[in-house]
Amino acid sequence: MDTICALVLAAGDGKRMKSRHPKVLCEVLFKPMLRWVTDSIAAAGIDDVCAVVAPDADEVLAVLPKDCATAVQANKLGTGHAVMMAADYLEAHRGGSVLVLNGDAPFVDGETIRQALAEHRKEGNDLTVVTARLEEPFGYGRIIRNEQDGLSAIVEERDADEKTRLVQEVNSGVYWFEVDFLLDALGKLGTDNAQGEYYLTDTVGIAVAEGRPTGIYRAMSPDVILGANSRGELAVLNETARRRVLARHLDAGVNIPFPETVVIDPDTVIGRDTTVLPGCILRGCAIGEGCTVGPYSVLTSVTVGDGAEVAQSTGEGAAIGSGARIGPYARLRPGTVIGDRAKIGNFVEVKNSTIGEGSSAAHLTYLGDSDVGREVNIGCGVVTANYDGKEKLRTVIGDRAFVGCNTNFIAPVSAGAGSIIAAGTTVTDDVPEDALAVGRARQKNREGWAKVHGKYRR
Ligand code: UD1
Ligand code: CA
Repeated sequence: MDTICALVLAAGDGKRMKSRHPKVLCEVLFKPMLRWVTDSIAAAGIDDVCAVVAPDADEVLAVLPKDCATAVQANKLGTGHAVMMAADYLEAHRGGSVLVLNGDAPFVDGETIRQALAEHRKEGNDLTVVTARLEEPFGYGRIIRNEQDGLSAIVEERDADEKTRLVQEVNSGVYWFEVDFLLDALGKLGTDNAQGEYYLTDTVGIAVAEGRPTGIYRAMSPDVILGANSRGELAVLNETARRRVLARHLDAGVNIPFPETVVIDPDTVIGRDTTVLPGCILRGCAIGEGCTVGPYSVLTSVTVGDGAEVAQSTGEGAAIGSGARIGPYARLRPGTVIGDRAKIGNFVEVKNSTIGEGSSAAHLTYLGDSDVGREVNIGCGVVTANYDGKEKLRTVIGDRAFVGCNTNFIAPVSAGAGSIIAAGTTVTDDVPEDALAVGRARQKNREGWAKVHGKYRR
């Protein structure tokens, strides 16, 4: 049985990106390009993978799958040289087939990889190149076909003459090789080309000269080969990915009436009949059915129950219950759990707190490190003083408590179930169940004082 494995080329530094970070870490829809590629390899059912990386590329290692092997390329002498650096890995896979692909072309999909392998096996090839036809082939290696329409060579942009540059069929940088052939061909690569590099693409000419079986698998969609060498190209990939993700949600019954400004990452899940209004950025979210999100909500790792509303708000690492109403202008920070049908209104910040079912904090409030029960009313301007300069401390507010406007809770402190806190109280001592707490200085009025001493005295 033929074993299969994959080799990802990820050592390039991407000069044209003008980034301090390796190119393969540039993100498309908030996901590094390299991870799109390794996800697709996994989707194709290949679990034996090696990545060629630059020395000390800890950032790159951090995004690779845990069991991924690595080979280090110290001097970047081209894609052929990068594969040479993985010679030991390839030696260990003699007799099998290896998928070689670039870490900077995120849209290669599992299906294309599998189809190309099927073709490679059916034809008994030593080398099968995945190609696509592009309206704008600039920058890619051009596919040269022979009289029988078979593969004859790949010519890089910078080595191509005018006639060759007109060819619209291009090399995706995705190939299936028989490992034995690849190891043999690597020893024959030279650097006689415009860039003075070892081109992996020259293995095609070697195979053809030796009369070995080679083939072409033309990808269904030209998208699968799109790569990014510059920020401009990266922006194009982001837009392509964005539209694709939106199309998937629209097909699944999500209502996105004005999609131009909506950005949803590939991992977000959304239930049907949920409306996503303009200006939303959703990353790693799980949103239920029949919700309204936006306009202008930015949510990262937030779960939203069915029928909830999240208007013009920011959330990260939070859970919102069914039928809850959030915003406009609310901020939910990590560790926040908002109960079903609760309301968190304008200029309310909640951090590491649980707000019970049906409770309401409608305006100008900070709830940090708090446990708020059910059907609690938090008035305008309530603040939990949760930090004493050393530690974060908790505030506990029982079910159906009524917290008047401008109350301060000096944690650690609690208000019992059913208690009432008078407006303007600074709560420093626990309030018993069903008690009324009033803690503020008594007002004194001095008749006529302002008339004599005030700024606008008359
Ligand atoms: C390569 C192909 C080109 C193809 C295109 C598709 C060659 C010579 N050309 O060109 O035919 O159309 O991909 O996108 O192969 N890398 C290393 N070490 C190196 C050089 C590159 O690891 O020394 C890695 C890069 O990180 C990148 C990949 O190989 O992920 C491709 O390298 P890049 O320089 O971008 O090749 P292209 O010029 O795009
Ligand atoms: Ca490239």
